[in-house]
Amino acid sequence: MKIVVAGTGYVGLVTGACHSEVGHYVTCVDIDQSKVEKMKKGISPIYEPGLDELLKKNHDAGRLDFTVDYKSAYKDADVVFIGVGTPEREDGSANLDYVFNVCAQIAENVEKDCLVVVKSTVPIGTNDKVEEFLQENAKNNVHIEVASNPEFLAQGTAVVDTLYAKRIVIGVESTNAENVLREVYERYNQPIVVTNRRSAEMIKYASNDFLALKISFMNEIANFCEIVGADVEDVAKGMSFDPRIGDKFLKAGIGYGGSCFPKDTKALHWLANDNGYELKTIKATIEVNQNQKYKLFRLAKQRFETLKGLKVAVLGLTFKPGTDDLREAPSIPNVRRLLDEGAEVVAYDPVGMDNFKRIFPSEIKYVNTPEETLKDADLAFIFTEWDEIKSLDLSVYANLMKTPIIFDGRNCYKITDTEKSQVEYHSVGRKA
Ligand code: UGA
Repeated sequence: MKIVVAGTGYVGLVTGACHSEVGHYVTCVDIDQSKVEKMKKGISPIYEPGLDELLKKNHDAGRLDFTVDYKSAYKDADVVFIGVGTPEREDGSANLDYVFNVCAQIAENVEKDCLVVVKSTVPIGTNDKVEEFLQENAKNNVHIEVASNPEFLAQGTAVVDTLYAKRIVIGVESTNAENVLREVYERYNQPIVVTNRRSAEMIKYASNDFLALKISFMNEIANFCEIVGADVEDVAKGMSFDPRIGDKFLKAGIGYGGSCFPKDTKALHWLANDNGYELKTIKATIEVNQNQKYKLFRLAKQRFETLKGLKVAVLGLTFKPGTDDLREAPSIPNVRRLLDEGAEVVAYDPVGMDNFKRIFPSEIKYVNTPEETLKDADLAFIFTEWDEIKSLDLSVYANLMKTPIIFDGRNCYKITDTEKSQVEYHSVGRKA
């Protein structure tokens, strides 16, 4: 079976690498020659633990290849996975241009019957349109079927999430498509849910939006905990023993970021509106998140009359640990506000600084250790709970900062420890 993967972003590249790891022959297509050359050497264009090793190992074993020559790649493919981006448009809807560009290339070049599998997150009904498009535009009198196979990997754990997925969702309209995908996934030995294409598309959005809803719910409970004197960490722990609730995604903080939850909540909300329905829970999820992003900034503004001229240490820039991705990271709008207020910002992140420099090339100072960040600072913000930051002893803040005042957006420290320390500590959903 010849598998081709279109797109070498998170979804495409990890899919291709993992399919080759379980023994399939895979070609990944990208438009950028220099990126292709790097991937052949085992250098991933994205920061993802374990991915470089997988690329190198399977490329050396002859199971995984990379090319810009999409014409030859698609020509004799049995299965083409589409893993390109579906970014947010200004109105919140999903932009499907990349998906249909790939479809046009497939239609133009396939010379034998094949199955096109949409892995990208796409609005409900898109797979139907993709099939219609391919059948109308296929040049070589071939039969192309389409299946939905949404992706559930998270950044930072993408390889493990794929090789040991909790479930594989397959949305098909024919037994042939189901059989081909069952053959692809046979080697993974994971539970397979088979449904129709629209339900599969909905499973992806409903899963992401439900997780986002859980986070926004806990953030609201956290804000209310502060008012009534409860501790959200204990509340979450107490809730988590009920298996109907579970112990995941109950962590309060400064909101969800990344390339998925913000985009997928807005896209589903937009799609519902477009169909004459209002998804009230998703609307509230989006609103709560928007507000929660600025929580630390608001707390700091209450604490200090003005931030003008103050030296602010920023610890952590990425939207979560384990990635260099800054998309929708709360650090970005907060740093912007700090600069607008006239604060002096010194930042540190173990892997996210190069990307941050593209947004703020010279407006802020970058340093190489948390300690350098804290030196002589008037206050510190924690935006990302990297282990390196969480394990920083509170005495380091007390010793290095001019005034050791911490605004912790990820509840990295135990309140009992902060009480014993010399720092003034503000966090989320717990007493100050
Ligand atoms: C998310 C989903 O977890 C994946 O299952 C999904 O496949 C992926 O989107 C996608 O659609 O591609 P990801 O965006 O990589 O994955 O990151 P998460 O680990 O889910 O975190 C998202 C955000 O929620 C982060 O900003 C994180 O800090 C925040 N979060 C997470 C919380 O604030 N509290 C929590 O308890 C958990």
